[in-house]
Amino acid sequence: MRDEITMESGNYFDEVAPEWDMLRKSFFSKAVRDKALSVADVHPGRIAADIGCGTGFITEGLVQKDLKVIAVDSSQNMLSEMKQKFAGLLAGQDLIDYRLGEAGSLPIQDETVDYAFANMYLHHVELPPEAIKEMARILKPGGVLVITDLDCHSFEFLKHEHNDRWMGFPRDDIKRWFEEAGLQDIVVDCVGENCCASSSCGSERAKISIFVASGKK
Ligand SMILES: C[S@@+](CC[C@H](N)C(=O)[O-])C[C@H]1O[C@@H](n2cnc3c(N)ncnc32)[C@H](O)[C@@H]1O
Repeated sequence: MRDEITMESGNYFDEVAPEWDMLRKSFFSKAVRDKALSVADVHPGRIAADIGCGTGFITEGLVQKDLKVIAVDSSQNMLSEMKQKFAGLLAGQDLIDYRLGEAGSLPIQDETVDYAFANMYLHHVELPPEAIKEMARILKPGGVLVITDLDCHSFEFLKHEHNDRWMGFPRDDIKRWFEEAGLQDIVVDCVGENCCASSSCGSERAKISIFVASGKK
């Protein structure tokens, strides 16, 4: 796999944080979240982690289903935007625990959560197999990891314009990394949705299929 990056992850996401909700809507739809939550078969009252939470796309679906969420991101600005957004929506409720943290050492103790979600996060991290192991570490026995991310693609401009490190992933690699993280009942399937983005000069239009991968600890 190639790993060339032109900008520090934290800086890029700090810069785009105020516009992230608008950008995200132009990239992919809520169908991605619906699929992730349905694959995990989430139950009210349980505790979930939203890793690389951004402004809380996955978290929003989880709190609507009455789960508690530990939301982790390496961008302080993303977390601040998210806090501001949910402060009004969830006034007085203590459902979200915001934590600044990095892929390689998540600020969550071993075997703490029933579910871990990571949407459009894996293609930004430096070491995807290690990031998967770290998400498996925080799952309780029987807990479920669900990753929604990009299939392999050839759109180089996403690296330079959107801070992507990896040009999607072969599904066989994802399955192997889940196995190496000690997960079972692994399924890697289509979400049935695409991630769409245009290059800044308008000459390229990416349309990339999205996979959903799940595994149980
Ligand atoms: C493409 S955004 C997706 C945000 C959110 N999951 C969503 O679906 O809208 C990727 C997020 O991962 C975070 N991120 C990138 N690299 C990270 C790392 N190494 N550790 C923790 N978070 C990271 C970024 O700050 C950003 O908020």
